[in-house]
Amino acid sequence: MRIIEAKDYKDMSRKAANIISAQIILKPDCVLGLATGSTPIGLYEQLVEWYKKGDLDFSRISTVNLDEYKGLNRENDQSYYYFMHDHLFNHVNVRPECTNVPNGMEPDSEKECRRYEELIDSLGGADLQLLGLGHNGHIGFNEPAPIFEKTTHCVDLTESTIEANKRFFASADEVPRQAYTMGIGTIMKAKKILVVVSGEDKAEIVAKAFSGDVTPDVPASILQMHRDVTVVADQAALSKLRQ
Ligand code: F6R
Repeated sequence: MRIIEAKDYKDMSRKAANIISAQIILKPDCVLGLATGSTPIGLYEQLVEWYKKGDLDFSRISTVNLDEYKGLNRENDQSYYYFMHDHLFNHVNVRPECTNVPNGMEPDSEKECRRYEELIDSLGGADLQLLGLGHNGHIGFNEPAPIFEKTTHCVDLTESTIEANKRFFASADEVPRQAYTMGIGTIMKAKKILVVVSGEDKAEIVAKAFSGDVTPDVPASILQMHRDVTVVADQAALSKLRQ
């Protein structure tokens, strides 16, 4: 595991965008696994800026997003489909038919999870998977659990995740209670993984996940077992790891 220290959020965003940009330059038809949440917003802005300057070409890439709320439609501005279009897809030359997000409106969980897992396999898996880190160590919507769930599945969100995500909704009652997410096995199949983390509020979980025991109680801890993980985190997020 490589840990790259950034000065602050802006520096973290630029460093992470550089890594994604290098991936696209080295393999123009690569498969990018993407994440939502507040942490990657700055890096998406940076990628859009470089695209507008003519430095990046998204025309041959494919994307697979980590997760989506179950029950939110694409027009809902809190859906991850909407987020990705708002922050990245609408601003670059990615082919719309090559972008993939789980279908939150598919009521049959088994069917949707099978479809999504098969789709990722048919693309040959992600060349580079981007991840954020939840306060409880979740990655995607893989919450602390007795076991590591392998494949794409439907999860019941924990109270802590509902609490963390309610800032985006009118009230906690409006936060969906379930989501579709790639499994830990799906994530671990990615050839490379890039984790972005920012802020002092993540310092404790960064220390637990990246230097503590590997346990499904801290889902991100499994990343210690992957052969090509890069964590780009700002000083505040790394403050407890150093101790
Ligand atoms: C988003 C996702 C989540 C977030 C995590 C951190 O697609 O899968 O695991 O990465 O909740 O969110 P932020 O970046 O908002 O702290």
